[in-house]
Amino acid sequence: MPQITINGKPLSFDKGQTILQVALNNGIEIPHYCYHPGLSIVANCRICLAEVWAPNPKTGQLELIPKLMPTCQTTCGEGQVVYTDSPKAIQNQKAVMEYLLINHPVDCPVCDQAGECYLQDYAYQYGRGSSRFTEDKIKQPKKDVGPHVLLYSDRCIMCTRCVRFTREVTGTGELMVDGRGAAEQIDVFPGLALNNELSANVVDICPVGALLDKDFLFQQRVWFLEKTPSIDGITASGDNISIEHRNGTIYRVKPRTNLEVNKWWITDEVRYGWKHVHSDQRIIMPLIRGEEPFDAGEAALAYEEAYEAINDRLGQSKHIALMVSPMLSCEDAYLLATYVLGIDPKAALAVGPVPVSGQDKTYAGFKVVSEKAPNARGVRRVLQKLTGSRNLMEYDAFIAHLASDATIDSIIFTGNYPSEWATSGLVNAIESRKGRFVLLIDTLRNRLCDRADVILPGATWAEKSGTFENINNRLQSFARAIEAIDYTKSEAQIALDLIAFRSGEDQHPVAFDAQRVRAAMADVHGLAEMVRDVHHPPVEQESHSDMQMVEL
Ligand code: SF4
Ligand code: FES
Repeated sequence: MPQITINGKPLSFDKGQTILQVALNNGIEIPHYCYHPGLSIVANCRICLAEVWAPNPKTGQLELIPKLMPTCQTTCGEGQVVYTDSPKAIQNQKAVMEYLLINHPVDCPVCDQAGECYLQDYAYQYGRGSSRFTEDKIKQPKKDVGPHVLLYSDRCIMCTRCVRFTREVTGTGELMVDGRGAAEQIDVFPGLALNNELSANVVDICPVGALLDKDFLFQQRVWFLEKTPSIDGITASGDNISIEHRNGTIYRVKPRTNLEVNKWWITDEVRYGWKHVHSDQRIIMPLIRGEEPFDAGEAALAYEEAYEAINDRLGQSKHIALMVSPMLSCEDAYLLATYVLGIDPKAALAVGPVPVSGQDKTYAGFKVVSEKAPNARGVRRVLQKLTGSRNLMEYDAFIAHLASDATIDSIIFTGNYPSEWATSGLVNAIESRKGRFVLLIDTLRNRLCDRADVILPGATWAEKSGTFENINNRLQSFARAIEAIDYTKSEAQIALDLIAFRSGEDQHPVAFDAQRVRAAMADVHGLAEMVRDVHHPPVEQESHSDMQMVEL
């Protein structure tokens, strides 16, 4: 393999790779603003410039290329020797930093980007201690450029990442560079708004605090946030995300880079799709029809009475039906079905409704999927295995089955959708046969609540760990970001509790452990892929806050 030497370190490279790419891949930091691996290379910020020596093709002697070279744009050549820490390179880094800060307001104390700002980081590493600029700074306006994004123009360093994103990734081209020289500004074209379905990615790629997320504006200092690697829990994309939270509250969701799935991006739908987690419509306590609602201090009693009622009614049932929502994890599906089949081996199993909106779309290799449930394939995979040759029903067939099969006397529904999901067809099917026992395990209040005999409060995907299978049959695990809110529990934990209750082991309930359940699926039921093929996030992607707030 050809070799290049960067700051004294010999490194191999592939043909066509730039010096910056090889350096970054090998843990050598070269400051850069305008370069982004998902965008074209424009080499306009000039901070990545380095001293490059290249062998003369005739003599083979190393010769210095007279000008500093942009490492983001210069491809590696055999035998090149690069210095990003030579006096000339350092002088350039300092000059660029001084230039970029001339008109910058340096308002870090009130800037959301503080703590994750490249301008801050590089000012610390490559900048001057004090400013020589005594003239007035050019002031530029704040602009509302779209439904999710604000532009603080005077913080902009004109790297043009945002403009290239709208041209090269979404193809919508809402953003442009207006004016020239010191009067240059980013703006939307007249009459346009930055409202494409990936719009908020520009906030992530802006290396400074110029483009800000309205939803996160002044909500938290980023050094207080913990980051948990997760998977899109709203659609079937399987997009890799990071849930950023503090003290049990989610503040924002960001994309995690995965070149095999979502590259560097997520849709605005996925980014803001967590709001129902903190909805005031959450079901937070078990409810038993005909009984007074339990008080906050009675959660243990509420669960005990609810489990007892469920155990009594299901134990007397002739035939049970279970609908597993495609919003649940593979582990939830497995444990719920194991519980039900343990009572009624011939139980009717079905997958809940799989919402679809519009059509799939592809932007520069990034796919927006129309299927709005994260795990329909995973739920089918698990239930099919557990039911063997029996027919696993889809939602419409299940509704018809409920209406026609008079032997079904107990039905278990699971939801966990971010909005109302029970169709009137389902409600009518339930109403058509009176006297059936209905257990609802769900997250948000919905029209089935009025019909359920017992309601158990489920936890959303952000409050539990598990595995989802995306639209391309990729199995991916996700970690619990926040504690289950109030008295909610994951469906998997509820199933484990009910299994323990039924066997009289309720004094020693088993705590849910996703890894152990996946191993059981593989060992007992031949679902080897639940161990073999699951992609896990790299451990280092979990991060904890740098600082804790000290209450005075
Ligand atoms: S707004 Fe941000 S991403 Fe856009 S050009 Fe300015 S600094 Fe770059
Ligand atoms: S990163 Fe190379 S010139 Fe901007």
